[in-house]
Amino acid sequence: MPKTTISVIKADVGSYPGHSRTHPKLLEKATRMLKEQEGKLLIDSFVTHCGDDLELIMTHTRGEDNVEIHKLAWEVFMECTKIAREMKLYGAGQDMLADAFSGNVKGMGPGVAEMEFEERGSDPVLVFMADKTEPGAWNFYLYKIFADPFSNPGLVIDPTMHEGFVFEVHDVIDKRVVEFKTPEESYSLLAYIGAPSRYVVKAVRRKDGVIAASTSTQRLNLMAGRYVGKDDPVMIVRAQSGLPSVGEVIDPFTIPTIVAGWMRGSHHGPFMPVGLPDANCARFDGPPRVICLGFQVCNGKLIGPADMFDDPSYDRVRDRCNEIADVLRAMGPFEPHRLSLEEMEYTTLPIVEKTLKNRWKPLPE
Ligand code: F6R
Ligand code: MG
Ligand code: MG
Repeated sequence: MPKTTISVIKADVGSYPGHSRTHPKLLEKATRMLKEQEGKLLIDSFVTHCGDDLELIMTHTRGEDNVEIHKLAWEVFMECTKIAREMKLYGAGQDMLADAFSGNVKGMGPGVAEMEFEERGSDPVLVFMADKTEPGAWNFYLYKIFADPFSNPGLVIDPTMHEGFVFEVHDVIDKRVVEFKTPEESYSLLAYIGAPSRYVVKAVRRKDGVIAASTSTQRLNLMAGRYVGKDDPVMIVRAQSGLPSVGEVIDPFTIPTIVAGWMRGSHHGPFMPVGLPDANCARFDGPPRVICLGFQVCNGKLIGPADMFDDPSYDRVRDRCNEIADVLRAMGPFEPHRLSLEEMEYTTLPIVEKTLKNRWKPLPE
């Protein structure tokens, strides 16, 4: 049996109204284009959206960073951009930073999480997709899932998980990579990933090398060199049989964290887990939200999806997120609702500051 690859590739190629949701016509077009490739390039596919991001979930046997798979995703986004332009959808083609495909969608605008693995007897996979936030938003949850015994009892009880995991961390500013083993290096790991705007967990592996989690780390504004919106990340997590169970993976999402993004990519806001029917941004272009689709992978086929956060056990975190949203929104333009000046460098604020530059006079000695 060849190894199975799951590629989750996403882009915001236009939405309605404003930046709130993807139009059904784009979803239909993308679904049809991927279906046409099933039995050819792809084994299976599923198309959905989170807020204004069009999400392509694809399975195949061509491995990660495959030119043809990336080209297919690029073509889907290009075709959907055309439809978005015809309808004058908002931000049509927003994330397509290049005119022509150059071999790999990474660095061209779309976000990418991929994972190649040998299928086990039964292989549950969870795909997380977020809108109005940045890739580092996963850091907290990945730590809770794979390194916190108060969150994941499997780390203590299951002998196959007891040895711990290895976290691959990327520095998205200085383009460096480092690995930390948990539990023995968890304090060193936290020293970095507690700063999620810069240090992003790219992958988590068991110590025997088995891949457990993979995320997108593309930072749109860093790539574009100007403000184009947030990076709205995706993440793939495998579960069960020596990896955290499905329930252990999704339990930490009952904790309301505060992430960067939201309105104008310039504000901290609560990270709200929602079911697919609520995967549409509303209040203040948000709040930042996350959906989780569960599948069983069977010879590359995606059995599912199950809409994991569409459940009353996530009602309370949603309520708490709304409360946090009220508290933060009341602060208006003040930090820490607004991002720190360092992070605002990647927004439109520096343009405003430029116009006011000459108004400043030196303080008398
Ligand atoms: C956030 C986002 C939106 C826009 C906002 C202003 O990622 O995309 O919150 O920043 O709606 O958009 P413009 O400047 O296009 O009117
Ligand atoms: Mg948008
Ligand atoms: Mg988005």
